[in-house]
Amino acid sequence: MRSHLLNDLTAEHYRRSVTEGVERVAAKLAATDRPFTGVTVDALAPRIERIDLDRPLHDTIAVLDELEELYLRDAVYFHHPRYLAHLNCPVVIPAVLGEAVLSAVNSSLDTWDQSAGGTLIERRLVDWTAERLGFGPGADGVFTSGGTQSNLQALLLAREEAKSDTPAKLRVFASEVSHFSVRKSAKLLGLGPEAVVSVPVGHDKRMQTVALAHELERCTRDGLVPMAVVATAGTTDFGSIDPLPGIAELCDRFGVWMHVDAAYGCGLLASLRRRDRLAGIERADSVTVDYHKSFFQPVSSSAVLVRDCATLRHATYHAEYLNPRRMVQERIPNQVDKSLQTTRRFDALKLWMTLRVMGADGIGALFDEVCDLAREGWRLLAADPRFDVVVEPELSTLVFRYIPAAVTDPAEIDRANLYARKALFTSGDAVVAGTKVSGRHHLKFTLLNPETTTDDIAAVLDLIAGHAEQYLGESLDRAS
Ligand SMILES: Cc1ncc(COP(=O)(O)O)c(C=O)c1O
Repeated sequence: MRSHLLNDLTAEHYRRSVTEGVERVAAKLAATDRPFTGVTVDALAPRIERIDLDRPLHDTIAVLDELEELYLRDAVYFHHPRYLAHLNCPVVIPAVLGEAVLSAVNSSLDTWDQSAGGTLIERRLVDWTAERLGFGPGADGVFTSGGTQSNLQALLLAREEAKSDTPAKLRVFASEVSHFSVRKSAKLLGLGPEAVVSVPVGHDKRMQTVALAHELERCTRDGLVPMAVVATAGTTDFGSIDPLPGIAELCDRFGVWMHVDAAYGCGLLASLRRRDRLAGIERADSVTVDYHKSFFQPVSSSAVLVRDCATLRHATYHAEYLNPRRMVQERIPNQVDKSLQTTRRFDALKLWMTLRVMGADGIGALFDEVCDLAREGWRLLAADPRFDVVVEPELSTLVFRYIPAAVTDPAEIDRANLYARKALFTSGDAVVAGTKVSGRHHLKFTLLNPETTTDDIAAVLDLIAGHAEQYLGESLDRAS
């Protein structure tokens, strides 16, 4: 069994095993002609259930053959140009190479004595991101597992800075289309069920600052404590960017922590043509960035940044075995002092490899391409009488609804849209997402693949219309 341990004696075994795995994936990627096979849960579950985990195959090739059946064949492939569903990007090769290196070396980024250079590389990337945000020299941050954790940590710091001894009085303000992790964080932080105040958005799906001012005033008048405003730079559904300068003004006026959830919109930090859309982000107290959304990084790769490094002390706890206080005096850098996690992956290496091979402009150019594509998609949709499109994209999502000329019942139109999404998924020809707008079912494209073309978008719209028409035709038959 020792031959499976990765060490000096097994370097050749490691090389052969990993190369075999890489070959399989490369062959799969090259041969994938659809984003999904359409496999059902019922078809797949028994195959996985059947595996006896107490009877190993003792043969890497046999296990890879088995994996082909269980996973590789039917996985959902984000690199395919017709995967248009969620905020999953195709990944860049330098980052995948970084992933291979980091899991083999297996540094843990909690302490210097488990990572050495890894700690410094992560710190350089945090500084690099802070500089792009326009934060001053007092900024800091830490890599996290994703936007959910980044938002949670930011709100933890905000709660501690609010210095209220009555958690039930604390209020967090976020737009009605902000990410649900804001509410989840409030619950995890022990705030009351009413803690998150939903601020209305305009037709453009951006937070209305007048409404925010009104809510802040009302909250103060009622003796409650405004704890944080969460502005979203790139909402999950619409890619809309809340008016950051106006929100910053209000946060200053009311003395409230400003958090910007730029999990999606952070790609603009590298953009060559759209960076100005993040103007005002430099005034935030904390920012969430998800490199695994718009920097073309593999999951996980995210960070939370703060304008004032001192605020990270709220996440600091000392353990004699790991990061005793004396290390601070000895100036030994420990990232665990800033993180909610202890043992932590060296995800930063992926971004490092990306920046060193491609450069930030390379990433920014890819992100600009998908934003351009979304603009083209918008034009297609706006000119197509079969569809109603909700909002012109600021980033790279399109939310729309199939609207048949002959049907007026909104519930029936809902069903046609739901059917079309499901039928498309089952066919495997394309994968699209869905959401609700004003209580009605819509469809969504999240465009993050520069290989997707306007022809792909047009073809998927035709497929959607075809499925929806089929549903309505069958529905008529059922009624008659
Ligand atoms: C705006 C926004 N914030 C936060 C998140 C959560 O990020 P993660 O899935 O990396 O936890 C998402 C996920 O889609 C998001 O769109």
